[in-house]
Amino acid sequence: MKGIVLAGGSGTRLYPMTSTHSKQLQPVYDKPMIYYPMATLMQAGIQDILLISTPEDIGNFVRIFEDGSRLGLNISYKVQKKPEGIAQAYTLGKDFLDTNDSMMILGDNIFHGDHSIIRHAAEDNGGATIFGYKVRDPQRYGVVEFDEHGKVLSLEEKPSKPKSNHAIPGLYVMDGEAPCRAVHLEPSKRGEYEIVDLIKTYFEEDQLTAAPLGRGFVWLDAGTPSSLNDASSFIRTIEERAGIKIACLEEIALREGFFDGDSYVRMVEELPDSPYRDYCFSVLE
Ligand code: TTP
Repeated sequence: MKGIVLAGGSGTRLYPMTSTHSKQLQPVYDKPMIYYPMATLMQAGIQDILLISTPEDIGNFVRIFEDGSRLGLNISYKVQKKPEGIAQAYTLGKDFLDTNDSMMILGDNIFHGDHSIIRHAAEDNGGATIFGYKVRDPQRYGVVEFDEHGKVLSLEEKPSKPKSNHAIPGLYVMDGEAPCRAVHLEPSKRGEYEIVDLIKTYFEEDQLTAAPLGRGFVWLDAGTPSSLNDASSFIRTIEERAGIKIACLEEIALREGFFDGDSYVRMVEELPDSPYRDYCFSVLE
């Protein structure tokens, strides 16, 4: 399975913070936002990753990750010239994906919890899999209704009277057909290639499954000043309380077995002398 991080967009709701750096480069407590979606793909065991961003910002991501080999990853990059919709990730990613299944995550989505749920859902995927996360205000989101077997009964976009309180987070698993399906989508009224339209093509063929992310799971998006601040506070609270780091990519790569202990030590020695590096060393104890 291959991974895509979609990290473009305009970030207008975070202006003026986004006047020099894109949304996904903003700090979420102690690391750039992009670390969190990268961590989710890595915790699903994915090493082949395509990072998509704007012409202005792509260079900053290359500076952070280079070819990914430092983290045991293989990272490629693609520019999205204009933010023409989330489903465009699949047409931009067509060559990269080839005929492989993929997990795509939005660059401003943060997941915390037992990632084996996500990993298993991906391993069991036939067609497409989306996730359902219970929220108080489903009217603000894409909403999915599903039965106890994960069979999807309805999909609604920002409904005034939602049939379920499960919002659809920005994490999607699709089979190798996704790029071909995406090519045939038409732009919506707001002029975007909508991810919900791509998902619907699977739904209409009874090939869509929904997996619930249960109560122990946390899903945050960090697209507004207040949600960004909340996300930072959340990460800080957990990290300080438990003495761990969330989305420390070096640690995840080690735990996932992307490289051995000796290579890990050599890689961490190269990091700037910082509390982050101290933490990376402490993981070995
Ligand atoms: P949004 O939050 O919907 O859009 P945005 O990031 O442009 O922000 P704003 O509404 O404040 O202007 O996007 C969700 C995620 O998807 C975010 O990480 C950006 C990414 N995205 C793209 O990379 N390309 C796109 O064409 C779109 C629509 C979104």
